[in-house]
Amino acid sequence: MPSDGSQPDLIIRGARLIDGSGRPGVRGDLAVKDDRIAAMGDLSQMKGGREIPANGLALAPGFIDTHTHDDRALLSDPLMECKISQGVTTVITGNCGISLAPLSIDRYPPPPLDIIGREPKQFFASFDGYLSALDRDPPALNAACQVGHTTLRAGAMDRFDRAATQPEIDAMRQTLETSLESGAIGMSTGLYYPPAKDAPTEEVIALAKPLRAYGGIHTTHMRDEASHLVRSVNETIAIGKAADIPVVISHHKASGTPNHGLVNDTLKLIDEARKTQKLGLDVYPYVAASTMLDPRRIPLASKIIVTWSNSHPEFAGQTLDAIAAKLNCDMTEAANRLLPAGAVYFMMSEDDVRRVLSYPHTMIGSDGLPHDQHPHPRLWGTFPRVLGHYVRDVQLFPLEEAVRRMTALPAAQFGLKDRGSLRPGACADLVLFNPDTIADTATFDRPKTPAAGIALVMVNGRTVWNDGAATGDRPGRALRRNTLGPMGGGMAAD
Ligand code: ZN
Ligand code: CU
Repeated sequence: MPSDGSQPDLIIRGARLIDGSGRPGVRGDLAVKDDRIAAMGDLSQMKGGREIPANGLALAPGFIDTHTHDDRALLSDPLMECKISQGVTTVITGNCGISLAPLSIDRYPPPPLDIIGREPKQFFASFDGYLSALDRDPPALNAACQVGHTTLRAGAMDRFDRAATQPEIDAMRQTLETSLESGAIGMSTGLYYPPAKDAPTEEVIALAKPLRAYGGIHTTHMRDEASHLVRSVNETIAIGKAADIPVVISHHKASGTPNHGLVNDTLKLIDEARKTQKLGLDVYPYVAASTMLDPRRIPLASKIIVTWSNSHPEFAGQTLDAIAAKLNCDMTEAANRLLPAGAVYFMMSEDDVRRVLSYPHTMIGSDGLPHDQHPHPRLWGTFPRVLGHYVRDVQLFPLEEAVRRMTALPAAQFGLKDRGSLRPGACADLVLFNPDTIADTATFDRPKTPAAGIALVMVNGRTVWNDGAATGDRPGRALRRNTLGPMGGGMAAD
């Protein structure tokens, strides 16, 4: 019985319960009452208001997408089918230095901010205003939201090709602290990108320091993921150490053929650093990256697919070399003519992807770009691809371990109290799936297709995805910092 002795709203019977801890799944039932898990185990003596036979399918905590750019999609496309169709029930937003708030802007936003908003009015002057908008018109899944360093720079600086001055740092720090008070969970950087690449390490440390008092987290798209990858990891470690805060390295990878294999060195560095500080990382399970179209990247990629272009929307989905042939110019000029635009870049090695995926402290983050006309398939395919392709077909690690990296591990790192595990009293964020058939169906040619093998997805005790379709219910919550637990769990070798 639920602890108050009342009848549960729902019992899912005969499931393989995978609780998120990494321990082997066990056959059993699970009861839901209101927004919580009420009971688990053999519940044959109990009757639910509604009963669902699981027929041996796997029942796991809803997946946590640690790396998203869903800031505006949560409002513009609140059903969030690209994510709930994969079993994702919570997203972390505001990554890579890019957030929708807090920023007042009166012109086209500097790329890569245009990945999430291409009109000034889509940005929010205050973080509180942004979170309140999510409260008023909630999405289907939960969101925990970060402030982007590039967003702060765009609000405080007249030009980006230099370090911030002390008054500018003070202004950004004030804006960041107000956002943290409103419920932001931390700050991300995108030091690779033009608006932040001239920010010195000291600027980042000055802004990372206030995170400590608020118990916030720092995530980073590092300065260089190519030949200077090792240097970038060292910079990230130094920032975490100086500010004494938990840090997550985003979408860990080595870009460009000459740099393949460097993740062997960086994973060792990360392992060493974890002995003395809180350090985590995430990865998406593909050998292609995707972001703004940037002519600097052309030499690193073996193939480039354009995902959107303001000046040439008709080229979305085509390769840059085909577009260059049509425009009768070289690829650099073609790229420049398409800007602002986005692209997919084939530039990682399969060995590296597997190495990073296999590292036991790696979380899964899609890095999906929901506003792209022809997006990278990771937007719709990341979680089923890990569970189907890498777990079942390649047998990189056991199913229970994959689920742990998608649930309990990110819940501990991001302080998502009462989420990420199956236990009585935890929030009823659930996914019921078939381990034998789960698969990503989204491809680089047809990138917007839902996963196979996902039977049922619940968020806060309500069904959002059932039998291959969204129910239309939107029970998601904006998770504010002060409602969460301590961040940085499971990040140090403790
Ligand atoms: Zn990034
Ligand atoms: Cu990103």
